[in-house]
Amino acid sequence: MSTRATLTGFAVLVLFQCCFAYKLVCYYTSWSQYREGDGSCFPDAIDPFLCTHIIYSFANISNNEIDTWEWNDVTLYGTLNSLKNRNPNLKTLLSVGGWNFGSQRFSSIASSTQKRKTFVKSVPKFLRAHGFDGLDLAWLYPERRDKQHFTTLIKEMKAEFIKETHPGKEQLLLSAAVSAGRVAINTGYDIAQISQHLDFISILTYDFHGTWRQTTGHHSPLFRGQLDSKADRFNNVDYAVGYILRLGAPASKLVMGIPTFAKSYTLASSDTNVGAPISGPGLAGRFTKEEGTLAYYEVCDFLHGATIHRIPSQKVPYATKGNQWVGYDDQESVKSKAQYLKSRQLAGAMVWTLDQDDFQGSFCGQNQPFPLTNAIKDVLAAA
Ligand SMILES: *[C@@H]1O[C@H](CO)[C@@H](O)[C@H](O)[C@H]1NC(C)=O
Repeated sequence: MSTRATLTGFAVLVLFQCCFAYKLVCYYTSWSQYREGDGSCFPDAIDPFLCTHIIYSFANISNNEIDTWEWNDVTLYGTLNSLKNRNPNLKTLLSVGGWNFGSQRFSSIASSTQKRKTFVKSVPKFLRAHGFDGLDLAWLYPERRDKQHFTTLIKEMKAEFIKETHPGKEQLLLSAAVSAGRVAINTGYDIAQISQHLDFISILTYDFHGTWRQTTGHHSPLFRGQLDSKADRFNNVDYAVGYILRLGAPASKLVMGIPTFAKSYTLASSDTNVGAPISGPGLAGRFTKEEGTLAYYEVCDFLHGATIHRIPSQKVPYATKGNQWVGYDDQESVKSKAQYLKSRQLAGAMVWTLDQDDFQGSFCGQNQPFPLTNAIKDVLAAA
């Protein structure tokens, strides 16, 4: 082979790798630092080569300007962003909002021209000062009256990022986390419009099932269940992804959420099947200490002596022990989900959260840290 052909081949290979690679967008939550013992997670636990993007959650908004949330955020921002010294291709974003921030305060800012302007102006300075490459909007969730304002906020933020030129720096990235619930999507988002201005959209394809249903069910099934009622037919990853694509989100910008957390229930009878009656949320985990939810590393503990089932039509597992029922994701299910998003030619996967994966590799006996996130990465990297 001539040198020229070799070089061309090399150039094609580089080009291919550069532009067709899937995104692996991983959230880190700052409150995970407060979990006790082996549950405590700081950003220096993260492998710099695991994800393409890491999103730090959450930032606050104070006097209409972006602001820290935790007392030591600035230190942790530094720890996270220093991962880029080892992997210069890694991108980091700061997520603003979240459940505790609530929808009301976002609504008040987005609906006022002046407050929006103040907020938008404050963001590039803050991101650059702390070494972030972009902003993630986690408004959970815009209501009907907010729909147009959310679009305007996104449009103005993007315009500011374009305007903000920084010698030798790339343009700041803008992403948003959006609900996967059909009703919440219809209510709060102009998907076609916001897609135009965002670099990527993360769809929160989990939390489809909860104690409000009063029965057991997986919270992040890939497909509709055989037993699902008509009302339940929208409550799965496949439906949500298809729906948001039909509404005009380009596949090339859509990032599909994969949870590293489980949802658990306390059974009300000896029935342990899907659709069995429950009396309430499951027992709190030893580290995450919240009823009804478990980190994957806590699930690994729970699995000792538990009975594991798979829901073949939905491609996800659940486990039962005593009166506890836990719907979770394991390496097999996250691989199915990663295959699925490749088959739909989506932009990539989003992981909520790194700190709920077995980040030390000490709980799940899989001989590596981040077994779920690594399983997703393997599938995304495969031809
Ligand atoms: C977030 O900002 C609001 C408004 O300034 C403030 O009242 C609140 O205490 C802040 N939250 C945190 C956790 O700092």
